[in-house]
Amino acid sequence: MRTLKVFYVVMIALLLFISLAGCKPAATATPAPAPTEKPKMTYEDLTVGFIQTGSEGGWRAANTASFKETAEQLGINLKFYDAQNKLENQLSAFRNFIADKEVDVIILAALETTGWEEVLKEAQAAGKVVVIEDRRIDAPDTLFATYVGSDFAEEGRKAADEMCKLLEGSEKKNVVELVGNVGSSAAKDRGQGFREKMGDCGITIVESQTANWDVTQGKQVMEAFLNKSTDVQGVFAQNDEMGLGAAQAIREAGLTPGVDIKIITVDATAGAFKGMIAGDINTVIECNPLLAPQVYEAALKAVNGETIPKWVKSQEGVFYAKDAETILPTRKY
Ligand code: AHR
Repeated sequence: MRTLKVFYVVMIALLLFISLAGCKPAATATPAPAPTEKPKMTYEDLTVGFIQTGSEGGWRAANTASFKETAEQLGINLKFYDAQNKLENQLSAFRNFIADKEVDVIILAALETTGWEEVLKEAQAAGKVVVIEDRRIDAPDTLFATYVGSDFAEEGRKAADEMCKLLEGSEKKNVVELVGNVGSSAAKDRGQGFREKMGDCGITIVESQTANWDVTQGKQVMEAFLNKSTDVQGVFAQNDEMGLGAAQAIREAGLTPGVDIKIITVDATAGAFKGMIAGDINTVIECNPLLAPQVYEAALKAVNGETIPKWVKSQEGVFYAKDAETILPTRKY
């Protein structure tokens, strides 16, 4: 009996030894190498190709400065391209940035909404991240990382609501519209938004024409409208410069801007605040040009494969002439 017990003990000990001999303590096992995670890029690693529309006025100058200054602050290598307001220049610059091995991200402020699908597909095939800023485009949002910009239709709706307030009690509500560059999302959507709401108080758009975001053209187009008829109670100017031009034309027609003819503009640049303080402009719908920090943040997340929303919407307000003097000193652009 005793021998048998010894035999079992020996066997168990043997089995234990064999099994323990098999497994080395964790510390020593060399783990299989983890797949090499691409190190996260930082702002200093980023090279950005930026395609701007071209000069258009105070808003555009502030937008450009926002990108140049913020790139400087973050250490981003910025390749800035000014398309001189020509769509063909934007398309060729886009292809140049696709071909540029240094460029990680292409940022586009599109002059027009259409014509982008092809180059977007080329950029995607070349592994470039594309961020649309300021102006939305008509292309599937699978072809770009995100759009950072305003709800232009909402700006148009706000403008109609404010024009209704200004023309309250007015027997007639004939409004003329000064439109931005034809084909741009800003011009299309602001016009559409205004038309969505103008019926609330019986506004009629009696004239509508582009003045290309420009003060001189704004004046000339308004002069032409007034030569045809001075039976106008309001001006919806799709940006500040065109509204300031319209005010000059109204004054030269012997009428008082802001009184005989109400003026609403979009942007809220310093020029508009001075126009409100002078009594020429009644109300201003804000459109924020200082988009660079949000755009660069989204771009960095995109190159690092992080999920980002397809639309990063700007937060914007409405300003009234009565508050302009107080607010102007606080404005950044
Ligand atoms: O896209 C924004 C528009 O472009 C601004 O309202 C206008 O001033 C600018 O030129």
